[in-house]
Amino acid sequence: MQEVNEVKKQMEESRQGEATVIEAIQENNKHVYIESYGCQMNFSDSEIVASILAKEGYGTTKNIEEADLVLLNTCSIRDKAEQTVRNRLVHINKYKRENGELKVGLLGCMAERVKGKLLDEEKLVDLVVGPDAYKDLPNLLREVDGGRKAVNVILSKEETYGDIAPVRLGGNGVTAFISITRGCDNMCSFCVVPFTRGRERSRNPQSILQEARDLADKGYKEITLLGQNVDSYLWYGGGLKKDFAKASEAAQASAVRFGDLLRMVAKEVPDVRIRFSTSNPQDMSDDVLYAIAENDNICKYIHLPVQSGSTKVLAEMKRGHTREEYMELIDRINRIIPGCAISHDMIAGFPNETEEDHQDTLSLMDYVKYDFGYMFYYSERPNTYAAKKMEDNIPLEIKKRRLNEIIAKQQVHGLERNQAKVGNTYEVLVEGVSKKSKEELFGRTTHNTVVVFPKENFKPGDLVNVKVNSCTGATLKGEAVA
Ligand code: SAH
Ligand code: F3S
Repeated sequence: MQEVNEVKKQMEESRQGEATVIEAIQENNKHVYIESYGCQMNFSDSEIVASILAKEGYGTTKNIEEADLVLLNTCSIRDKAEQTVRNRLVHINKYKRENGELKVGLLGCMAERVKGKLLDEEKLVDLVVGPDAYKDLPNLLREVDGGRKAVNVILSKEETYGDIAPVRLGGNGVTAFISITRGCDNMCSFCVVPFTRGRERSRNPQSILQEARDLADKGYKEITLLGQNVDSYLWYGGGLKKDFAKASEAAQASAVRFGDLLRMVAKEVPDVRIRFSTSNPQDMSDDVLYAIAENDNICKYIHLPVQSGSTKVLAEMKRGHTREEYMELIDRINRIIPGCAISHDMIAGFPNETEEDHQDTLSLMDYVKYDFGYMFYYSERPNTYAAKKMEDNIPLEIKKRRLNEIIAKQQVHGLERNQAKVGNTYEVLVEGVSKKSKEELFGRTTHNTVVVFPKENFKPGDLVNVKVNSCTGATLKGEAVA
């Protein structure tokens, strides 16, 4: 699929990897087949799309041959992600030739980026819908049913889908996502997201609390709050983050920030574990760290992408912080939340990256000793600042070699982190049956580490104290203890 590397694949299978087909069983006369690519937000968006389509009489199916409508919820983050979708569309065209009635739609970031181009050029799709236009799907489908092609890629100032109750798809009934912000204003110079998902806006906290309560009532045991940049969450009555300064004094004074939201959610559903993703170092406040430390049900794990360990490269990436500032943030995390697990995203081979810059990345990794990492080599994305102003001048072999060195280091650190856990007992939330053995269950610790242990009489959703006996770089193995 995308350039999923082994460590990443082992770490978090649902995040950025294989396309996942999702299904909700409903009595409906039409069927939609949805494939989601890319980030967790896309998976969450597919649940919103399923909810909108359910009202139009569509149930979801896992069997593409049964579908009246095929939707690909796509990712643009790296070139390879888009290539995967193009190949998939060519393949899906086979079903279109067999079933003249079958309609195919492109959703998500790639839809936003390529707009109507795929309709005209390759005639592979009937429908193109950007991430802010899903509520228009019923109208667009009527256009398509009338034999016309339909496109809506308008980005919105307000849309948060806060009023839509997602249809929980293909999940385990234990963990679920709630999206809290949409878009991103950070404009990192390599990143296509601000172009495909538009300006940053936050969702009404009351609708977030209601969704959390609803999930808890349905028996869910873990909620992940989602946003491109969760630390930037800011509710002041609605509207874009960048317009906050124009809001009334009263609205500004009563604004809800991410630390406040974390506390509110933790209190609303005290028996549910809370996670969040993704944090951005330049926007993460100490108040967020205190909120995590204060609440037992907020997991002690922070995904804190850094992208590079070189201050020079960070400046060219427009990341808004230096190497030293990042290290200070890591120190504060370790002080305020002792034992907190930390993971990273890293990009190898950004334009002009020297061997010395690369060494800075490796030494930063030595400083932090991350628990996990998601690692990529630089892929130039059209229209970004880096694409317009910088030359993609690191040869592919060098990008790959640097990436491999980063991955190798992460493997060492991941193993060290896990080895340090052997002999300890952790509370594990059981998510399902282990892929390797029916006799074993798997779940996660507060630190997001996967633990496998003998099933006995436990079941998904249980919180089990597991004593760790051994480990690999990716997984802890243990047994339940009283
Ligand atoms: N804030 C987002 C980040 C989105 S992109 C989130 O919620 O996860 C996820 C990761 O993809 C980034 O952190 C970065 O490491 C990587 N990435 C983004 N653009 C890239 C590019 N042009 N080339 C290579 N990797 C990229
Ligand atoms: Fe992309 Fe940077 Fe936002 S990586 S999603 S522009 S924080």
